Amino acid sequence: FNISAFQNDLLTWYYTNKRDLPWRQDQDPYKVWVSEIMLQQTKVDTVIPYFNNFIEKFPTVYDLAAAEEQAVLKAWEGLGYYSRARNLQHAVREVVENYGGTVPDDPKQLEGLKGIGSYTKGAILSIAYNQPEPAVDGNVMRVFSRVLNIDDDIALPKTKKLFESVTGEVISHEDPSSFNQAIMDLGATICTPKSPACLVCPVQEHCEAFKLGIEQQLPIKTKA
Ligand code: ADE
Repeated sequence: FNISAFQNDLLTWYYTNKRDLPWRQDQDPYKVWVSEIMLQQTKVDTVIPYFNNFIEKFPTVYDLAAAEEQAVLKAWEGLGYYSRARNLQHAVREVVENYGGTVPDDPKQLEGLKGIGSYTKGAILSIAYNQPEPAVDGNVMRVFSRVLNIDDDIALPKTKKLFESVTGEVISHEDPSSFNQAIMDLGATICTPKSPACLVCPVQEHCEAFKLGIEQQLPIKTKA
């Protein structure tokens, strides 16, 4: 597996094909954070209008920290999983009180914030702060299970750790932000769960599963 050729083909594709999404207008860590929390249980198309409205109402950590909880829940209405909104506001208040209003760029500090797990931590560090940190969710596991023919059960917690380690090896150090977002776009638009579009895939020549014709059999997932 040629890591730099893989990175190059993926990034070249991403630079001309990246989706124009509102949280990609800049690398504001607060906006990256809000978008990643919304995207955890909700699809991109649904999130877009909620994200725009949320940022209009609460443009900075200070606005969100100072808001009434009811106003935050109102802006979240329809997205579901309301503890996401409560945890986000709780954590943003900690950022204002403990970190002078700057979203931490330190993994340990991020992990200490309510609602931030390993995925959100990696997304903020890579997308906003250009650190070569993995941000592994189900989509990323699907892509790398196919590219590298990894048949571990993605329903097991230790498998996520395996993919974090794999992604940490493969991620571009030149442009970690684009690399992680490129994997997300690839998983959403080409390396889809059913009928992946391998014939137009920018990393087809690097893909073990395609070579073996087993892309539809991966990833392995025992339970929903
Ligand atoms: N899914 C999760 N995070 C995403 C992001 N930053 N861009 C596009 N899709 C995503």
